[in-house]
Amino acid sequence: MGYCKFSKFDLLSLIMVFYVAHSENDAQILYDRVSLLSFMSGITSDPGNALATWNSSGVPVCKWEGVGCGKNRNRVVEINLSHKSLRGSISPALFDLSQLEILDLSGNFLEGRIPAEIGSLYQLQELSLSSNLLAGEIPAEVGFLQRLVYLDLGSNKLGGEIPVSLFCNGSSSLQYVDLSNNSFSGKIPLESQCELRELKYLLLWSNRLVGEVPLALSNSSKLEWLDLESNLLTGELPAKILSKMPYLKFLYLSYNHFSSHNGNTDLTPFFASLVNSSNLEEIEFAGNYLGGELPSIIGDLSTLVEINLDTNLIYGSIPPQIANLVNLTLLNLSSNLLNGSIPSELCRMGRLERLYLSNNSLSGHIPSAFGNMPHLGLLDLSRNKLSGSIPDSFANLLAASEGL
Ligand SMILES: *[C@@H]1O[C@H](CO)[C@@H](O)[C@H](O)[C@H]1NC(C)=O
Ligand SMILES: *[C@@H]1O[C@H](CO)[C@@H](O)[C@H](O)[C@H]1NC(C)=O
Ligand SMILES: *[C@@H]1O[C@H](CO)[C@@H](O)[C@H](O)[C@H]1NC(C)=O
Ligand SMILES: *[C@@H]1O[C@H](CO)[C@@H](O)[C@H](O)[C@H]1NC(C)=O
Ligand SMILES: *[C@@H]1O[C@H](CO)[C@@H](O)[C@H](O)[C@H]1NC(C)=O
Ligand SMILES: *[C@@H]1O[C@H](CO)[C@@H](O)[C@H](O)[C@H]1NC(C)=O
Ligand SMILES: *[C@@H]1O[C@H](CO)[C@@H](O)[C@H](O)[C@H]1NC(C)=O
Ligand SMILES: *[C@@H]1O[C@H](CO)[C@@H](O)[C@H](O)[C@H]1NC(C)=O
Ligand SMILES: *[C@@H]1O[C@H](CO)[C@@H](O)[C@H](O)[C@H]1NC(C)=O
Ligand SMILES: *[C@@H]1O[C@H](CO)[C@@H](O)[C@H](O)[C@H]1NC(C)=O
Repeated sequence: MGYCKFSKFDLLSLIMVFYVAHSENDAQILYDRVSLLSFMSGITSDPGNALATWNSSGVPVCKWEGVGCGKNRNRVVEINLSHKSLRGSISPALFDLSQLEILDLSGNFLEGRIPAEIGSLYQLQELSLSSNLLAGEIPAEVGFLQRLVYLDLGSNKLGGEIPVSLFCNGSSSLQYVDLSNNSFSGKIPLESQCELRELKYLLLWSNRLVGEVPLALSNSSKLEWLDLESNLLTGELPAKILSKMPYLKFLYLSYNHFSSHNGNTDLTPFFASLVNSSNLEEIEFAGNYLGGELPSIIGDLSTLVEINLDTNLIYGSIPPQIANLVNLTLLNLSSNLLNGSIPSELCRMGRLERLYLSNNSLSGHIPSAFGNMPHLGLLDLSRNKLSGSIPDSFANLLAASEGL
């Protein structure tokens, strides 16, 4: 038999191999069907009949509502049953769908735990179980999902510590991590040998996380959105980390226990760390009891649209350089220890809509030009030591100050 010649017999066996392979593919979709039916049997209530097509005769698996198959229509690669008001629990059998790339069960009423079997979905890229009633801990096996790009477990009843494996198993491809509005405790488990180089969104707000913002986060230099609000985090404001984040857009650190540099007396390194973040739009660090003066360098963060620094221990005067923030629409400096007079330069801020300076120790007159700011709709100067009369120009304001 020549090297490149097929006998009739060879050709036949080739066709047979092809046939066998083809029927194996058919067998795989039957296994997938069994997994989906096991998942369905864990659903106790489906008021919108989202699963009506599932297991109904004549409807192929790939046409079931919320189910997507791959190119050859022989494997299930996607399940999206978001916001279908489903009740029940997540059957571990669902995770036999070994080719699944996208799983979105968000916005239902699913209870119970996240089964550890989830770690066998090696192809999974997007996982959203947000806004359910899931409880217990995140199984460490979630860290096995090496292709995971998008992880949203926000607004559940999950707790315990965030497993180290999640951020720390091989080179992680995670871009989006949302664990917000749960009851996670312990530290943010990003150890120094771990890297999340692709990370763009880290949303951990409303948990009970403690400790400092891990230094290893400085390797996540693509970060755009960092929300650590309403936790129990401590230590100095993470200036060293933030200075490595040129794409940062939203920074929310309010309601934690952060302090400023040099024994809670110096805010300059923090603001200085943000000068190269040329997309920065919002910073919020209200309710931290941070001390120090507002440094003039704040005026260099020229892309800012909103600043919320209320309820801290910031003292000294308001730097007139704040007026350089031409796109600012909201400035909240209420409930601090600011003194001196209100700089008349603030009147240059043509886009300012809401200005809160209440509950400080500001003195002197109210600059009359405030009344001419085109978009100012809310000005709260109450609980200060201001004197003089309310300028006539204030007739132009929609809602003027109260209780001077
Ligand atoms: C699927 O349909 C078959 C035939 O109607 C039925 O015997 C089986 O119980 C159904 N499975 C589920 C999970 O509803
Ligand atoms: C799931 O479907 C909803 C509604 O159609 C859509 O908004 C959402 O982006 C989908 N989820 C994924 C992961 O594609
Ligand atoms: C890391 O993931 C692999 C699978 O990709 C798994 O076998 C291994 O146990 C995981 N290691 C840890 C520490 O979780
Ligand atoms: C937080 O989660 C609770 C349920 O645990 C939900 O009712 C609430 O709307 C969520 N909050 C936000 C801001 O999404
Ligand atoms: C950043 O990653 C490198 C490895 O590329 C590592 O040596 C370094 O410790 C990491 N930085 C931090 C602050 O963890
Ligand atoms: C900002 O960029 C300039 C020019 O590249 C550099 O000299 C400076 O050190 C950077 N500042 C920070 C806080 O990274
Ligand atoms: C202010 O906002 C406009 C868009 O509304 C933008 O084009 C401009 O670059 C912004 N200015 C600064 C200094 O960021
Ligand atoms: C401004 O700060 C005060 C607390 O001093 C708070 O009550 C108010 O809701 C804040 N306003 C905005 C818009 O953030
Ligand atoms: C005024 O600020 C102090 C802290 O500086 C705070 O304790 C107090 O509750 C604030 N009062 C009002 C009415 O916001
Ligand atoms: C503001 O308070 C500081 C102390 O924090 C004091 O040294 C300064 O004289 C005060 N300035 C005014 C104008 O009252």
